[in-house]
Amino acid sequence: MAERARVSSAHISPSAHYTGYVWYRHQLADPAFATDLGRWIHGVLRPVTWGARVGFGIDLENLLLQRHLLIDARLTQAIEQAGVCQVVEIACGLSPRGRRFTARYPSLRYIEADLPVMAARKRLLLQSQGWLSQNHQVKAVDILAGDGRDTLANLFAGLDHSLPILVITEGLVNYFELPVIEAFWARLATQLQAFPQATYLTDLYPNLQEHPRYRQLRWGVELVGRLTRGSYPLHYRNAEEIVAGFTRCGFSATAVLDPDQHAQALGLPTPRLPGLVRVIEARCQGLTAAQ
Ligand SMILES: C[S@@+](CC[C@H](N)C(=O)[O-])C[C@H]1O[C@@H](n2cnc3c(N)ncnc32)[C@H](O)[C@@H]1O
Repeated sequence: MAERARVSSAHISPSAHYTGYVWYRHQLADPAFATDLGRWIHGVLRPVTWGARVGFGIDLENLLLQRHLLIDARLTQAIEQAGVCQVVEIACGLSPRGRRFTARYPSLRYIEADLPVMAARKRLLLQSQGWLSQNHQVKAVDILAGDGRDTLANLFAGLDHSLPILVITEGLVNYFELPVIEAFWARLATQLQAFPQATYLTDLYPNLQEHPRYRQLRWGVELVGRLTRGSYPLHYRNAEEIVAGFTRCGFSATAVLDPDQHAQALGLPTPRLPGLVRVIEARCQGLTAAQ
C-alpha cells in the first residue's frame, strides 16, 4: 500500500537527456551519452537559451558547466587528498562522471543510481560500451522511498562501512519542495553517519532575491517547472540559511561554494553577473569516529 501511495518524480527524468547532451557538447562525454531526445530538447530550447544569454546575460550552459566542473574538482580533491575510495552518485541520469572518474581512477568504487527506468537505461548504455565492472555499477534508487526495494538504506547496504564515502547529487534537489528535500537530506545524513568519513556534494539554486536578474530568474525557473511538468522551487536565501538547513538535517559541517570564485581554475569565463548556482559540500561525522 505504502508503495502505491508514494509520490512519483519520474516526470523529471527527461531533463537528464538535456543535461547529458550538454555534457557531450562540451566534450565532457563520449557520443554514447548523447541521445536523440537530448539533441531534440536542446534544439527546441535554443531560442530561449539564446534570448536569456543575449537579453539578460544568463548563460544556461555556462551555469550547468559551473556546477558540473566544480563538483568534479571537489571530487578529484576528495579522491586524491582525502582518501575517498567509494562514490555514490544519486540521480546520475546520463551524466558521464562515473565513466570519466572510473577511467581515471581504476580502483575507485563508483555506484551510479537513479529511478529504476533511468537506472536500467544507464546500465544498458554503460554495458553496451563495456564500461561496467565490479567497481562501476548502476543501481535503482528513489530518494522519496520510505520502504521497498529502492530505498537509500538498500543502496548503501552493499558499501564498505569502514571506508570514507562521497555522495553526489546534481540537478536534483530543486525539483522538490524544501520539506521533501530536507527529509531526503536527513535520511541521507543518517546513512552517512555509519561511515568513518562522509562528504555530500550537491548543486543548489538559492532564492537570491537581491540578484539583478531576479525577475528573469523567476521566469526561467517557472519555465523549467513547466517543461518538467512539476515545479522548481529555489531553496534558502543565503549561505547562512543553507548552513542552518544542512545542520538541521544532521550534517556536522557545511561549506557553500560559489562557482564564480573558481571560474579561472575551472577554465570558465569570468561571469558578468553574480552567479545563480552554489555547490554545497556537507560533511557528516561518523558515529564511530565521534566516539
Ligand atoms: C536534471 S536530471 C540530472 C541528471 C544528472 N545528474 C546530470 O546532472 O546530468 C535529474 C535526474 O534526477 C532523477 N530523479 C528524479 N527523481 C528522482 C528520485 N526520486 N530518486 C532518484 N533520482 C531521481 C531523474 O531520473 C534524472 O535522471
